[in-house]
Amino acid sequence: MKISVSFTLLLLLGTVPPCESTDYQKTFPQDIYAALRELTASLVQLKADVRLLLTQVRQIAFSASLVDKSESFVGPSAMDTTLIFTYVPTNIGNAYNSTTGVFTAPVRGAYHFEWSVGANGGTSGAVLVKNSANVFLAYEQAAGFMSSSKAVALLLEVGDVVFVRVFVNTRAYDNLNHHTTFSGHLLFPM
Ligand SMILES: *[C@@H]1O[C@H](CO)[C@@H](O)[C@H](O)[C@H]1NC(C)=O
Repeated sequence: MKISVSFTLLLLLGTVPPCESTDYQKTFPQDIYAALRELTASLVQLKADVRLLLTQVRQIAFSASLVDKSESFVGPSAMDTTLIFTYVPTNIGNAYNSTTGVFTAPVRGAYHFEWSVGANGGTSGAVLVKNSANVFLAYEQAAGFMSSSKAVALLLEVGDVVFVRVFVNTRAYDNLNHHTTFSGHLLFPM
């Protein structure tokens, strides 16, 4: 409200010719001081609003790999098993939990995820799961070292969970070079 009032005043001032009459010149200084006070007040309010908006914009981005240094296989298993990515170089907003391997959406919005699964011989697969539904699978049958990657954009509600499971009867390989990874970020709130 304050902001629109002062902008209206400014517009009015701008449309008045500078030296129309002596009457006007007498009253003009009072008007402009009132307008300046109003403008100052609205600028203060505007600054406070901007500060509030900046604190409300959520910044969410994470990247993790299965292990930090040691060589590790997860699987094979008779059922899909949640991968817990324990090496976490980036976790802005703390929406990824390195104890559970689960990302929890703190705001409704469009998110982007990427994941890759490393192979060291044999079959490797990792499926991204939204709540309880498999979304996309990264999969490979490799004689030696390889990694398969996928990415997806998802609309998430507050509290939706996203995680990666090693696919049934396959395994995920990782070492200090980080072949099996999980990353994500908020594209924009909705
Ligand atoms: C991660 O999950 C564990 C197990 O549910 C919980 O105890 C812990 O508080 C969570 N950490 C964060 C940072 O939310």
